[in-house]
Amino acid sequence: MSITTCVFDAYGTIFDVNSAARRAAERPEQNALTHVWPRLAADWRMKQLQYTWLRAITGHHTDFWQVTKDGLDWAMEAQGIEDPILRETLLALYWELEAFPEVPQMLSDLKDRGMTCAILSNGSPDMLEGVVEFAGIQGLLDSVISVESVGIFKPSAKVYDLVPETLGCAANEVLFVSSNGWDIAGASAYGFKTVWVNRVGEPIDRLFANPHHVLSDLTTLAELI
Ligand code: LAC
Repeated sequence: MSITTCVFDAYGTIFDVNSAARRAAERPEQNALTHVWPRLAADWRMKQLQYTWLRAITGHHTDFWQVTKDGLDWAMEAQGIEDPILRETLLALYWELEAFPEVPQMLSDLKDRGMTCAILSNGSPDMLEGVVEFAGIQGLLDSVISVESVGIFKPSAKVYDLVPETLGCAANEVLFVSSNGWDIAGASAYGFKTVWVNRVGEPIDRLFANPHHVLSDLTTLAELI
């Protein structure tokens, strides 16, 4: 079966999650962040993800906005930062994350090839609407699918089920694209064809299923179709 549908993870794949801390650190009033922002951003993301996995395993679901705030609170405390204004600044920037620069052209190339394009994300619907609109890519997406309708985070198969249910396609027509190795393992095991976007040269995750393709960014994605 040939590929008809490209489905993207959002945070870290389409949108640069580090851009919130990086942009806050560029502000003159935030010079306390100059040296620590990369560590703050990495801790924030890692705790955010750990909380999604633990909540999914234990059945203690809450939405991704809550998990994002909880991860930030852990990361700020780990850096000894107690600054409610900075906290609000970082959270506001999470609704305006930068899309990676190649994203609009890549989506446009896929649309030219007749692909259905969608996002499947842990993000809550309002967060996703905000970040997609900020990037100006809403016209290039056929659907933005949030886990909130099933109340569990990736890599639960209930989340991947949302793709065939929402888009009316078979699993083996789907090319699933993510920068998260664990999301790729879940999606490959589910039956999607997968592309792992390995921007920073990480080792491959030792899990139960491997990506079908690996790219260093999204520039050449359409050539795989
Ligand atoms: C998402 C997170 C996992 O967008 O990056 O689903």
